[in-house]
Amino acid sequence: MESKGRIFSGVKPTGKLHLGHYIGILLNWEKLQYEYDCIFSVVDLHALTDPVKVKDNLQENIYHVLAMFIACGIDPLKAHIMLQSENSDHAFLSWILQNYIGYGQVKRMTQFKDQYQKHNVTNGLFNYPILMAADILLYDCAYVPVGIDQKQHLELARDMVDRFNSIYGQQGFKSPSPLINKVGSKVKLLSDPSKKMSKSDNNEKGIIFLLDKKEDVISKISRAVTDGENKIKYDEANKPGVSNLMQIYSSIGEIEISEIEKKYENLSYQDFKKDLIDIVWNRLDKIQNKYYSIIDDKEYLNSVLDSGLEYSLFLSNKKVEEIKKIIGLKRLN
Ligand code: TYM
Repeated sequence: MESKGRIFSGVKPTGKLHLGHYIGILLNWEKLQYEYDCIFSVVDLHALTDPVKVKDNLQENIYHVLAMFIACGIDPLKAHIMLQSENSDHAFLSWILQNYIGYGQVKRMTQFKDQYQKHNVTNGLFNYPILMAADILLYDCAYVPVGIDQKQHLELARDMVDRFNSIYGQQGFKSPSPLINKVGSKVKLLSDPSKKMSKSDNNEKGIIFLLDKKEDVISKISRAVTDGENKIKYDEANKPGVSNLMQIYSSIGEIEISEIEKKYENLSYQDFKKDLIDIVWNRLDKIQNKYYSIIDDKEYLNSVLDSGLEYSLFLSNKKVEEIKKIIGLKRLN
């Protein structure tokens, strides 16, 4: 079957992956790989934007994320999986691209502003969305499947494309479109549904990790915050806890939210949670079986990265040459 276009997306190796990653992106990637030319990346250079956090386990986290991609259904014979730092075209293009966007515009990125308010941030964190734009623009991607929190970064990348193309009067870069799930683009903490499920959050009780044991899944879902109404109804504003659990149910169980409402019309939160535990655990059990069967096979995992790197270099070298020529960075023959 002919591919419908190219896709790039990535995950930072900064900790153990959780249900937010699975529902927000990995489930979708698995489906997309059959129709698109996909490049999925372990974005280790992005992880470096918080060097203190990653200093002791970056390598371990890289293999964790790589093995998780495969365990969650990414087939390295269909999709290409690459390690960002192994292809230096990413960092090179990022330097180029920062000249095609205003400082004020980068400063307005909400993810940066949030972090800036909480603690000392590195200059790398400021430049994070520029490297992300380079990841995407290097491959002429049509689509970028991400969680909703990354939408603003993609808008920045699109602005860079417009600016670059208008300065040189040529279509040097292609504008990428975000692919964001209707359901599950922002999975919330089970313990506090006002916040995104995030590995930077210290509240582990609210996070279901993909490697959690069955008893942890049972306890985290049983204790998930709901409300006093005991009615399975989707209402993000007034019933954020239940709505979040319904999104999880709908994504993994492949059932519409309205169908869930019908199914549990006369049932309690307890009944609903019991079924949700089964759905989530059945999926995690499968993922974990695959994960543990490959995580120690470094030869296999390295071979996946080798072929991903080869493919990515094949495309990115050509793009870099094309861009250098447009800008005037190439020597005359
Ligand atoms: P990272 O590792 O923080 O997140 C990886 C992806 O997972 C999504 N995600 C979620 N989706 C739904 N609910 C959640 N609770 C949740 N938590 C995380 C994120 O939206 C993201 O799509 N900047 C990217 C990494 C990156 C990238 C790229 C992505 C670097 N270069 C190029 C696409 C294209 C990030 O947020 O990583």
